[in-house]
Amino acid sequence: MTGQHDTAPTARTVLVTGAAGGLGTAVTAHLAATGWTVVGADAQPVPYRAHLAATAQGDLCDPAAVRAAFDTALERTPPDGLLDVVHLAAIPAPGIVDEYETLRINTMSAYTVFQEAGRRTTHRIVGASSAAAIGLAWADRDQAPRYLPIDENHPDLTVDSYGLSKQLSEQAAAFTTRRWGTTTVMLRFPFIGEGPRLEARLAEVADDPAANRRELWAWLHTKDAAEAVRAALTAPLTGHHVVNAAAPDTSAQLPTGDLLLAHYPETAILAGIGRHGSLFDSTRAQRLLDFTPSHGWRTPEPSGPGAPSAPGRRRP
Ligand SMILES: NC(=O)c1ccc[n+]([C@@H]2O[C@H](COP(=O)([O-])OP(=O)(O)OC[C@H]3O[C@@H](n4cnc5c(N)ncnc54)[C@H](O)[C@@H]3O)[C@@H](O)[C@H]2O)c1
Repeated sequence: MTGQHDTAPTARTVLVTGAAGGLGTAVTAHLAATGWTVVGADAQPVPYRAHLAATAQGDLCDPAAVRAAFDTALERTPPDGLLDVVHLAAIPAPGIVDEYETLRINTMSAYTVFQEAGRRTTHRIVGASSAAAIGLAWADRDQAPRYLPIDENHPDLTVDSYGLSKQLSEQAAAFTTRRWGTTTVMLRFPFIGEGPRLEARLAEVADDPAANRRELWAWLHTKDAAEAVRAALTAPLTGHHVVNAAAPDTSAQLPTGDLLLAHYPETAILAGIGRHGSLFDSTRAQRLLDFTPSHGWRTPEPSGPGAPSAPGRRRP
């Protein structure tokens, strides 16, 4: 997607945490290609990439390591330049480490990076939250959404520590805006993928749509996630914002109306949902960030855009 903010000002540096990770790799490349001087930080060594101006290695829960990463980024920021922060470092799912470590690492790294960003008068912070912040995706039980499509005002239903860590990271961002005045944008991403990772997910959902019900079949192409980050860095905003950023369709071959009838028959549908339409409402991303995903996986159907919508069943 190209909006009205196609390139960053030349004197703009960005510190990207989690730069060695899957999303960090795509985001650092995209921001470097669109005008930023990019410094990558991670607990792991960040592999050499020509688009990185510098790297910093350390545990970003540790204030000293965070200060060192900011020192490295500020050395690459001209006196009249701006420093932005993109915080992607996290344990990206439950079960990788135990639930206490997931909560500790995700919330402490967000808090520590955001406070240092505030102290250093960083221009803007963009962070990776998750669609799982709602609490459905990684719950140990089926929970029905209170309504669909899910917008950013949906009640918090979290019963897992990863979802809680993302709720708390969003709160840490709101706190940072209050404490330091820094503009913060937290992007609620669903499953992100491209290439073999995306193909594997699509095959899993095709084989067994029910298995993905708690994620509501939501997805976003990695290139669109990187573009959402760029859009969040450049949109004309102040204050704190939580923004859904999902593809406009699902990862399922079945029509969304069929998925709803099979899995969420009682849930109120508050807006028209296209034949394969997403159950996450990303209109705020379009309105505030001028962001619209542009990468799809579906072969266009003859029925196309005029296809029937999933009917509204109950309105409050
Ligand atoms: N990939 C997805 O489908 C998805 C979906 C929604 C949200 N997210 C969020 O996007 C972000 C990036 O996810 P990803 O898929 O690239 O994950 P990833 O695991 O590939 O990358 C995360 C990186 O963070 C680093 N990291 C972890 N703890 C750290 C610490 N204490 N200090 C420094 N670095 C640390 C890891 O070394 C890793 O390189 C995460 O915040 C994740 O929760 C990802």
